[in-house]
Amino acid sequence: MKHLGILLSGRGSNFLAIADAIDRGQIEDAEISIVISNRAEAAGIVAARARGLATHVVEARGRKRAEQDAEIVACLRQHDVDLVCLAGYMRLLSPEFVAAYPQAILNIHPSLLPAFPGLDAQAQALQYGVAVTGCTVHFVDEQLDHGVIVLQRAVPVLDSDDEASLSARILEQEHVAYPEAIALVLSGNYNTVDRRYIARASQNATPIEEAK
Ligand code: GAR
Repeated sequence: MKHLGILLSGRGSNFLAIADAIDRGQIEDAEISIVISNRAEAAGIVAARARGLATHVVEARGRKRAEQDAEIVACLRQHDVDLVCLAGYMRLLSPEFVAAYPQAILNIHPSLLPAFPGLDAQAQALQYGVAVTGCTVHFVDEQLDHGVIVLQRAVPVLDSDDEASLSARILEQEHVAYPEAIALVLSGNYNTVDRRYIARASQNATPIEEAK
């Protein structure tokens, strides 16, 4: 059984998509061991409590990031977490945090990275005038929105789009992409070569010819 730790700061819809994917068996042999928020009033942490999951709020105000992150790492270790999933966690991780979970922290970002890192990625895409944007699930390294990409899903930008409509269509794809990426990473059937994530054929997979 693999143990997931979720970090969030707000609404928590990606967290709920992950929790639902575990419940319906799309992410096999895994459970959410702890949900951590840096905001006590985050809707996501309220939803986690309502689902009966263990939760922890880390006080952010007036504290250095290293001190706050040390508390988070201790909490993740206490709950035997194997894979950390950032789900709308709006703080940069300290180098010590990243080093504590090498290639074991995932993030979701609402653009096709490396385009539009940072805040308000959907508004950045509209302002730039791109025809296609989307979402990216990637491993977290020390740089913002930068680590090895596990998967991306594209979303067309429509002439009629404003930030709200585009964000909503990207979010739908986030909810598909994040559980899929977690299942891939937990399966262990991949290698990383430089910046490339290369899936290996699963030993249990049915060859395409046989499946016909
Ligand atoms: C999502 O759109 C996620 O991609 C974004 O915050 C939102 C959280 O929504 N994350 C980032 O921009 C990280 N750089 P949620 O709380 O409903 O999952």
